[in-house]
Amino acid sequence: MLLLSVSDLTLSLAGQRILHKIHLHVEAGEIVGLIGPNGSGKTTFFNVLSGFLKPTHGKVMFRGTDITSFSAPLRARLGIGRVFQNFGIFRDMTLEENVLVALECLPREQRLLLGNLRHAVHETLKSVQLETHAKRKASSLSGGQMRLLEIARTLASGKELFLLDEPTAGVSPKMTLQVAELILRLKREGKTVLLIEHDLPFIQKICDRVIVLDVGEIALEGKPDEVRHNKKLKELYFGADPTE
Ligand SMILES: Nc1ncnc2c1ncn2[C@@H]1O[C@H](COP(=O)(O)OP(=O)(O)OP(=O)(O)O)[C@@H](O)[C@H]1O
Ligand SMILES: [Mg+2]
Repeated sequence: MLLLSVSDLTLSLAGQRILHKIHLHVEAGEIVGLIGPNGSGKTTFFNVLSGFLKPTHGKVMFRGTDITSFSAPLRARLGIGRVFQNFGIFRDMTLEENVLVALECLPREQRLLLGNLRHAVHETLKSVQLETHAKRKASSLSGGQMRLLEIARTLASGKELFLLDEPTAGVSPKMTLQVAELILRLKREGKTVLLIEHDLPFIQKICDRVIVLDVGEIALEGKPDEVRHNKKLKELYFGADPTE
C-alpha cells in the first residue's frame, strides 16, 4: 500500500531554492534512508513533510489524502511522528513523565491495547536502557541519553510514519545497534520509517532503499548496496581523501 507520495515538490526560502522537483513514493512498511551533504535539504524536506514549512509548489499525499495544506498538529494526529535533529523532549519533566505524555496522546483504542500505562512507560524506557533513571529530570541526562529518550518516546507514540532526523547522532555504537533494533521492530509491526543519517553502515543495515539529496534534488536512488558503490555518491558525498 502506498503510504506517502510526494510529487513535484519545490521549496524556496528567502528567494533561494532549497528543494527542487522532488518525487518520492513510500510504501507502508518500508524503511527509506535519506542521505546527502550538509545543507542539501534533508531536514527541510522533513519540515515540509511534517507541516512546519509549506512547499512553494507540489503535493504531499498521506494515506490517499492530500495533506499539503494541513497543519503540523493535524499531520501528527493523522499518524506522522518525528524525531528532531535537535532535542524535542520536555527537559523539566522526569523521564517517565516524558514517556507518559506521549502514551497519553495515543488514540484511545491504542492506549487500551497497552494495558497498564505505568508498565508501558517502564517497557519504553527499558527499550533504550534508561529505566533506572525513570525519576530523574530529562535535563539531567547526557546528550546521547536525551537522544535515546526522544527516540523511544517517539517510537512509542503509535504513529504510522516516522521521520527520524539523525537518530544516532552522538549515540554510542552499542546503543546505535539498539536503535537499529527498535526501528526494525517498527517495520515488523508494519510501520514506515524515513530516516536521515550520515552513518552509512547504519543505513545499509536497516534500509530497504536509499535516496541521496544534493542541493535540494534527488541525485541518486536505489538499494543500499547499489547506492553505496555508485561513483556519483563518492563524488558528491564522500569527497576525495587527501591521505589516499
Ligand atoms: N528558514 C530558512 N531560511 C533560509 N534558508 C534556510 C532555512 N532553513 C534552511 N535553510 C537552508 O536550506 C539548506 C538546507 O538546509 P537543511 O537544514 O535542510 O540541510 P540538511 O541536509 O539537513 O543538512 P545537515 O546534514 O547539515 O543537517 C541550507 O542551505 C540552509 O541554510
Ligand atoms: Mg539536517
